[in-house]
Amino acid sequence: MYVELDKDSWSFLSGELWIEILDGEIEVFGAKYSKGETIYLPEHRAAPLYSPTKCKLNITFGNEGFISESKDPLIPESWNCLFSLLEKTNSGYKVMVIGNVDTGKTGLITYLANKLFLSGKKIGLIDADTGQSDIGPPTTIGLGTIEHPIIHLSEAILLDAFFVGNVTPAGILQRSIIGTLEMIRRAIEYGMDIILIDTTGWVCDRWGRELKMLKYLAVHPDLVVFIEKREDELLHLKRALEGYGAEFFHVESPPRVKMRPREERREIRAEMFRKEFEDAREIVVSLDSLGVSYGFLGTGKEPSETALNILSEFFGEDIPYVEESEDALLILTDHKVHGSILEEIRRRLNKREIINITPNDIKHLLVAFTDFNGRFLGLGVILDFDIKTKKLLVWTRARLDILANIQFGHIKININGEEEGKFNPWLI
Ligand SMILES: Nc1ncnc2c1ncn2[C@@H]1O[C@H](COP(=O)(O)OP(=O)(O)OP(=O)(O)O)[C@@H](O)[C@H]1O
Ligand SMILES: [Mg+2]
Repeated sequence: MYVELDKDSWSFLSGELWIEILDGEIEVFGAKYSKGETIYLPEHRAAPLYSPTKCKLNITFGNEGFISESKDPLIPESWNCLFSLLEKTNSGYKVMVIGNVDTGKTGLITYLANKLFLSGKKIGLIDADTGQSDIGPPTTIGLGTIEHPIIHLSEAILLDAFFVGNVTPAGILQRSIIGTLEMIRRAIEYGMDIILIDTTGWVCDRWGRELKMLKYLAVHPDLVVFIEKREDELLHLKRALEGYGAEFFHVESPPRVKMRPREERREIRAEMFRKEFEDAREIVVSLDSLGVSYGFLGTGKEPSETALNILSEFFGEDIPYVEESEDALLILTDHKVHGSILEEIRRRLNKREIINITPNDIKHLLVAFTDFNGRFLGLGVILDFDIKTKKLLVWTRARLDILANIQFGHIKININGEEEGKFNPWLI
């Protein structure tokens, strides 16, 4: 479709679409494009288009793509004020953006990243949203950077990631906080001038409050940016933080964003998982040759005589796969064992807990791999576990020669990236 835009006008873009600039200049999230260039906006994403000059465009629409004019500026003036402030900051400056879901947090970070990059700064981007991850796959907190302006945060270059094991921080707040800190540490090692931290939209209820407050205390950002649609919707968080001397900056939510319903969020996640597994293949890893975290499987040894004697009372000759450790006994059985039997075994062996899992629990369980320095190497999906050799068959892109750790996740997905359910026998 051929489109002409007036000088100093705004349009709302919704993907999927391609824009070829036939004449003039456009700006998308502060990134400038001119005659001869083509930009692409994927499905499920929206963006503001500003034309500083009269311009002629050729737009090709894909699935659900459209463009519509906007009378109001789509980038609030406060976003530009924030940029002016950040432009003058010193190296390693940390900015944490807090706002409800669909308020434009990621859009604001994209805008700031582009403008600050163009002003010569080295940009560290931390995506602490493990559900709608843009940098790194879902279930991770990603660290990225940019080497040219971008239209969407998912175009950032992934430098490292921290696996938290689930798409929501619920129940694992500590990993979400430590993961953010780890990525900040890496960003500082990389010598980033400015570190922009995107967070989840979980700002309400007692755990949302707890997460934001503890993250603030752990990170000690130089600036907290609150992005609000309605006045005082984040008042409860400001009240929680203001006594600690936090520097605040308030910006408005843009007049138009694209809301994402729950089902669409799931689809976007599946897409992100698929992207992660694009170059995956099957690998075989021995649990004994790796460090094991976030789980019980692979953390024990063969059962003691005492344990074997007690187990034989319940299982006869047919003793299942068992690992014994100081605090726990892990039993892998074809079918779940009745709770009263497990409790009896626990009591007699004086263990803190008995973990009973089945081969079906492990199949399609999401895992992650790191190297010896804790650097993220990729997600994995467990396809099979051989109890005789303690070897796992895993679908992953991770490089086999530098694997040092396997981290067990709390969800199951298939190799097409579709979520199959929760797995939480060892969720804290
Ligand atoms: N100023 C803007 N003008 C037009 N579209 C925007 C603007 N800011 C963000 N968007 C788009 O609207 C959609 C939702 O915004 P965004 O992802 O920034 O919100 P969010 O607060 O990060 O949401 P979530 O809570 O899901 O992380 C995205 O497709 C984004 O690109
Ligand atoms: Mg976001």
